[in-house]
Amino acid sequence: MRVTMIGAGYVGLVSGACFSEFGVHVTCVDMDEDKIKRLKGGEIPIFEPGLDQLVASNMEAGRLSFTTALDTAVAEADAVFIAVGTPSRRGDGHADLSYVYAAAAEIARALDGYTVIVTKSTVPVGTGDEVANIISKTRPDAEFDVVSNPEFLREGSAIGDFMRPDRVVIGTTSERAREVMQALYRPLYLIETPILFTERRTAELIKYAANSFLAVKITFINEIADLCEKAGADVQDVARGMGLDGRIGSKFLHAGPGYGGSCFPKDTLALVRTAEQYGAPVHIVDTVVGINDARKRAMAGRVIEACGGSVKGKSVAVLGLTFKPNTDDMRDAPSLDIVPALQAAGAAVRAFDPEGMDEARKLLDGVEWCDDAYQTMDGADAVVIITEWNQFRLLDLERAKSLLKRPVMVDLRNIYKAEDMALAGFRYYSIGRPPSEES
Ligand code: UDX
Ligand code: UDX
Repeated sequence: MRVTMIGAGYVGLVSGACFSEFGVHVTCVDMDEDKIKRLKGGEIPIFEPGLDQLVASNMEAGRLSFTTALDTAVAEADAVFIAVGTPSRRGDGHADLSYVYAAAAEIARALDGYTVIVTKSTVPVGTGDEVANIISKTRPDAEFDVVSNPEFLREGSAIGDFMRPDRVVIGTTSERAREVMQALYRPLYLIETPILFTERRTAELIKYAANSFLAVKITFINEIADLCEKAGADVQDVARGMGLDGRIGSKFLHAGPGYGGSCFPKDTLALVRTAEQYGAPVHIVDTVVGINDARKRAMAGRVIEACGGSVKGKSVAVLGLTFKPNTDDMRDAPSLDIVPALQAAGAAVRAFDPEGMDEARKLLDGVEWCDDAYQTMDGADAVVIITEWNQFRLLDLERAKSLLKRPVMVDLRNIYKAEDMALAGFRYYSIGRPPSEES
């Protein structure tokens, strides 16, 4: 089988490389010439663990190639996936579908023979209908079906999520398209992965409903964490006690500074807008959007409080900038709210992130960029952990204490335990748990 992937971003590149690992012949197309040039040279433009080896081995086997020439890549494909960006539209929060529609028109012009067009990008309910309209109008003669096949990839574990998914969702009522998709996902079918066939609009909504529910779950435990702080309870044990109930499950109950990333913030907003349009508002998700935005902004206040009420003229060390570990992605990262707020309150901010520095430099000004955690803490009045990278989990606390002007840590990811930090002589603040009493 031959597949063409339009868009070589996080989703398109991972999906294309994984399909080629299945033995499918994949051509990844992207409008960004520089990106394609780097990929052809074996360079991976994003950080995703394991992706470099996967791309290299499949390029070597001749199953994976890259081009900016969409037309030839489409003409020879059995299935064409649209995996271009669907960012939040400036101002109103609707999903910006201009790239999806532009790709649909370009694909239409290049179609040659029956082809399945698959929306892999996260698109609002009804987008598949519009894509089909665009293609029919552009090429009334073309033989095609438009299928929804949403992705459920988490950045940092995207390859595992593709190779061992909880489920594959395919939205189509065309028998012919179903056969093509079944053939494509046959390797997963063989390992008993549930493949849910449903109609297109349902498949489109499953993606938004799933992501929004996960955002709701995270926000729920974040609010419970605030209650724990006031009530003197421990949110980690509350989460453990909740999660042991099979109906709740233990995943996504880690309280933190609020969710970020290229999906939850935009998908929750897009669902709220879509629901408004249909006159069936999703009040819970709408509330969650507001709570999460406010939470990210409020985190700087915790640091200011930990520094005795003011950070004016103080130096604050920030460990972790990306929206989560094992990625270089800074989209909607809590650090983008926290760092400027600390600077506005008069702090000089020093920062380090294992993978996100290049991206962060484009988005944050006036930061002292450091090379590792210890250099970051050198001479600082407090250290804040924003992203729970593994290398921050076992800091040499004695060394950290000798470098810091004051032994103050604000741990927004509950990496450490209050009693250990008290023993190490830190004033330790975290999320949803009582602060440590300085020994
Ligand atoms: C995107 C959406 O953000 C996500 O919601 C959806 O589920 C999958 O697609 P991501 O892969 O992270 O996720 O997007 P991004 O990293 O922005 O990559 C999109 C790629 O498409 C970029 O490389 C861009 O150059 C390319 N592109 C965009 C095209 O090739 N053609 C276009 O018309 C528009
Ligand atoms: C998410 C979905 O998990 C994935 O299925 C979908 O395809 C794309 O969006 P991603 O955004 O890559 O994946 O990261 P994820 O691991 O879901 O984390 C999202 C945000 O929630 C991060 O900011 C993370 O820090 C936060 N989070 C996650 C919490 O605050 N607590 C948790 O328990 C889990």
